[in-house]
This record gives sequence, structure tokens and C-alpha cells, in this order.
Amino acid sequence: MKQVVCKIDELGPGEMKPAQLGPIRVVVIRAMDGTLHGLAAKCLHQGGPLERGRLYDHTVASSDVGEYVMDSDREILKCPWHGYEYDIRTGQTVFDETRCLQTFTVREEGDEITVELGVPGAAGQAGSARASA
Ligand code: FES
Repeated sequence: MKQVVCKIDELGPGEMKPAQLGPIRVVVIRAMDGTLHGLAAKCLHQGGPLERGRLYDHTVASSDVGEYVMDSDREILKCPWHGYEYDIRTGQTVFDETRCLQTFTVREEGDEITVELGVPGAAGQAGSARASA
């Protein structure tokens, strides 16, 4: 099952779009480095609409007390209802990496972005695709 999400130029870095794969609500995200990621849009807590969440860089404590630094390798999607946080690359919750949203394969095909059922990174599939120049 595959679905067109939008035109390539309609999803810039740090933006997301909703999609529907049969009965499954999906959120498609372009990370700041241009890679594409697809996650189930239903929060693991109480089903909040993750396509209406907020994207931001993860922060971690530095060695100095009270100081935080950006972890640019980890971008976060925060649920709009009660604040569960998810790593957009893996779907894992920040507080418990054993809890994970379903992930989907997202590709650039021609001038469109598509999302489909499938394990990102599986043989012959590109789970996250860098924007082509
Ligand atoms: S429904 Fe998402 S944090 Fe509660």
C-alpha cells in the first residue's frame, strides 16, 4: 500500500505533513538534514494527533550544571496533548526507548513524496531518503 503525500517542494526541512494509509494515520516529516521519516500519527499514550505536534531539536544536559546543549542528531516530535516526545528517526519515545511508534517507508519519487507500509531501511527500501539536489 502506497500513498502520495505531497509534492517534494511542499515539505521543507523541519516541516511535516499528514497522510493516510488505509486506516492508519501517518505523519511524514522532513528532518533538518533533508531526510524523510514516516511515523504512525497516533500517540502511544492516549491516541493524540501527532500530525498536530511540534518539532524541535533534542536538548541534553551538558557537563556544566544547569546548562543544556542541542543534540542535533536527534529531532523530536512532541505530542500536542500531554507532551510525549518521539525521536522522528526511530519512533522511539524519549523516556523509554522500548516503546516505539510504527514507522513507514518514505521516498521521493519523481516530484512527489510517497509513504508506504514497510520497514524503513529494509533490503531494497529506503526508509529515510535524502533530498536529491
Ligand atoms: S495523548 Fe499524547 S501524550 Fe497523551
